[in-house]
Amino acid sequence: MDSLEKFERDVLDRLATLQGADEVEALRKEALGKASPLAVALKGMRQLPAAERPAAGQRIHDVRARLSARLDLQRQRALEPLGSGRRTKAAVSAVDVSLPGRRLPPGAAHPLRLIEEEVVDCLVPLGFEIASGRLIEHEWYNFEALNMGAAHPARDMHDTFFVRPDVVLRTHTSSVQIRTMKGQPPPVRILAPGLVFRRDEVDATHMPAFHQIEGLWVDEHATFADLKGVLRTLLVRLFGAQTAVRFRPSYFPFTEPSCEVDVGCDACGGKPQSQCRICRGSGWLEVLGAGMVHPAVLQAVGYDVESVQGFAFGLGLDRLAMLRWGIDDIRALYDNDLRFLRRTAGLGI
Ligand code: PHE
Repeated sequence: MDSLEKFERDVLDRLATLQGADEVEALRKEALGKASPLAVALKGMRQLPAAERPAAGQRIHDVRARLSARLDLQRQRALEPLGSGRRTKAAVSAVDVSLPGRRLPPGAAHPLRLIEEEVVDCLVPLGFEIASGRLIEHEWYNFEALNMGAAHPARDMHDTFFVRPDVVLRTHTSSVQIRTMKGQPPPVRILAPGLVFRRDEVDATHMPAFHQIEGLWVDEHATFADLKGVLRTLLVRLFGAQTAVRFRPSYFPFTEPSCEVDVGCDACGGKPQSQCRICRGSGWLEVLGAGMVHPAVLQAVGYDVESVQGFAFGLGLDRLAMLRWGIDDIRALYDNDLRFLRRTAGLGI
């Protein structure tokens, strides 16, 4: 392992032990600041022969981008409104410092975290940055600005929890597209992971709260070919180079044209008409929705539709984790059964 690789590992190991956003920011200063091994490596490039410089520069850039995204992710988790701030305070005041210590067994990352980090690690070198929005969202950001007016039939599938008539628990991470574009001029290249909510009955494939990761890329030239390249890169990384990937025409109000993307079913080798329980005999498994951002969406956030265009995609992280590790019941991800968590943690990624 070379020294940059070791440095990256060390920072990630330390990051995993941090709790508060302040601690994350302190680590960011140290890991990405002027005295960091990255800065030293960058300076050292001058000594390299010209032919080696581009590759070395690319490596330094990739490590930096990956670390920066992981730091952003951890910060977002620390600040998440459903966090445990209040509980932590109560717990602290209840500590009796005279009691003997208790040994904690070492923990392991949850499958949803592992898959989220895998997606982020794969896409950040392509230039995506982490963005976050709100779990409790104004209807305008969740529906209206996404070209889903009050009477739109597509709202049926997003039947959700209303906090007030105009405030909802967000039904998808697409609301972060709107928050981000409202807040900055183009170009935009973001990934937005997080919880979403729908009024679904609990069963083996549905939970009323689940996880998505949204991608949005808007600039002067972003095309459907770029979209396909980005998604293929991601799916091959997650499911292996042999994986068949299929783009199927579909419909979303906020993209045009739209598609759903399937990967070949691993369980039955993608043979149609088999009795496969996983793909129900179709040979394919749907993993995400995507498309070119609808001009009405760009207009809603005040972008000039004549000069910019882009694409968006939304992945269900629970579903990806289930496919990745052959988990046949989504509830296992939320049961906190240590035997299950140890098993998936042991499988690695
Ligand atoms: N928001 C869509 C959903 O939750 C997924 C999606 C995102 C589709 C971005 C297209 C573009 O079903």
